[in-house]
Amino acid sequence: MNGPSSGGEVRRILANATGTDPDDWHLCLKARYGMAVVFAGLADVEGVGQVVTTPYTCATAVNPILVAGLTPVYADLDPASLSISDPAGLISAATRAIVAQNTLGIIGDRSGLRALADRHHLVLVEDSAHCVARLARGDDGQPLADVSIHSAGIEKVLPIGFGGAVWVNPRLAATHPGFHHALRTRLAALPVPGFATRFRVRIYRGLAGILARLPRSLRPAARRLTIAARLLEPPVAAAERAGRQPAPLASYGFVDRKLLTWLPRLPQMYVLVVECTKSDNREPEEHEQCQLNGQPAFRAR
Ligand SMILES: Cc1ncc(COP(=O)(O)O)c(C=O)c1O
Repeated sequence: MNGPSSGGEVRRILANATGTDPDDWHLCLKARYGMAVVFAGLADVEGVGQVVTTPYTCATAVNPILVAGLTPVYADLDPASLSISDPAGLISAATRAIVAQNTLGIIGDRSGLRALADRHHLVLVEDSAHCVARLARGDDGQPLADVSIHSAGIEKVLPIGFGGAVWVNPRLAATHPGFHHALRTRLAALPVPGFATRFRVRIYRGLAGILARLPRSLRPAARRLTIAARLLEPPVAAAERAGRQPAPLASYGFVDRKLLTWLPRLPQMYVLVVECTKSDNREPEEHEQCQLNGQPAFRAR
């Protein structure tokens, strides 16, 4: 289940930030778990087949496709958006979905992919793991994807280490009713983590901080030891590097409360991202001046 009241509040914040309905947001412990539910549901309802996706991604974004019995088909990269360029030539009767990844938070123009997905009755999955709470939109301002994946995980925008969310576009109820029903039902039924996982989640940031302060020469061995002792949760486990993935888990109180602390600070975090990388694809005029730690800064309007 989506869980106790802090989970409900997290979903409300995500919905407010994106102009969507809290009921369409589902929380999971990691984005990869949400993706696993999405692709398993797709394979079960629409049948096994292919998913057109990007080669420039993390193993954790491809494993959910493989584990579901689907076959990833890698499209060329568009140098401007670091996402897939027009993949029309890769679409066949076996294609089930297209993944549009907002690489490094760059949200390119997705209207072409939306039209392509509509023409072939495909599901358009947006991977917003790098830009939690941002959705690709059409000219009318409406979200374009059928499903959007978000992460608060390790090495993402928010310094939490855990937390994922799946937004399910309600229009799927009309276009892919079986998949829509299966997805919502399965996301709502995800089990919460057991004691060992909750313990690793609880100590993650403290332990990672200690490891980072060790002399550089000791760090690799200390990391290996803490991972082998199942104390440190690695960003990508050895099994995941080999294409496997543990069973999906829901979020729970501790992670939800961290999200409640950090999500309201997202606008400031994105100022930092924009300032540091200039990766936001908006024009300078589309930013407004604000204050960040007493310093003048800019944020996207
Ligand atoms: C593009 C992309 N999608 C999905 C994921 C998985 O996110 P999570 O760590 O929350 O499972 C990652 C993780 O690095 C990623 O880079």
